[in-house]
Amino acid sequence: MDWPANLISPSLLSADFARLADETRRVEDAGADWLHVDVMDGHFVPNLTIGPPVVAAIKQVARRPLDVHLMISEPKRYARAFAQAGAHVLTFHWEVAPSAAESREVIKTFRGEGVPVVGVSLNPDRAVEELDPILGDVDLVLVMSVFPGFGGQKFMPEVLSKVRWLRTRGFNGHVEMDGGVSEKTIGLCAEAGTNAFVAGSAIFGASDMPATIARMRELARIERAKHDSLRGASA
Ligand code: DX5
Ligand code: ZN
Repeated sequence: MDWPANLISPSLLSADFARLADETRRVEDAGADWLHVDVMDGHFVPNLTIGPPVVAAIKQVARRPLDVHLMISEPKRYARAFAQAGAHVLTFHWEVAPSAAESREVIKTFRGEGVPVVGVSLNPDRAVEELDPILGDVDLVLVMSVFPGFGGQKFMPEVLSKVRWLRTRGFNGHVEMDGGVSEKTIGLCAEAGTNAFVAGSAIFGASDMPATIARMRELARIERAKHDSLRGASA
């Protein structure tokens, strides 16, 4: 396999915010690989969530890497704060830096702050081909399968072709899917070439969280194997 192992990244947006430490431990014990943290500024998206102090508080109790998704208009301005708060993955949106030059500035700033995994994200209505000039500069591409802002929305299957395009283009970093990922949709994502799966409501809304994560992981594994054998057959 050419790209990184499959990862399940539960979104803490669907956790009980009054009990974040307990929720963090609960989802880690249930099998989370990464912890997805949704940062919203009420400007780039019509919702406000959490900032660096809360990310730092989660970091205090977390054993798994923090996968921080910045849905904010000024990612460069807050890069240091989120890096120091403990972001392992730090992802900004292409829409706020929509050219190779602007995006490279953001990426350079993140790397300068020591962020281990730098990601770029794309809204459902943006063409993935726009990312072509910066694919060599990022470690992760986060494909939004809902319009960002809220958990619990319906998966948009039309974005799957973006994942296929990225893999066909030879992008071998992380491809992460975010929005409406569940037991119903994770297989489609994996078959297309996704290796990192964000899920909020499907995991925090589950009656048996460990069993749900285990089933999602298994579905992703099976579909990834099909994807690999298809590629092998066409090679
Ligand atoms: C949406 C966020 C997602 C969200 C996913 O704006 O970026 O990470 O928490 O939630 P679900 O899995 O419920 O769609
Ligand atoms: Zn997210």
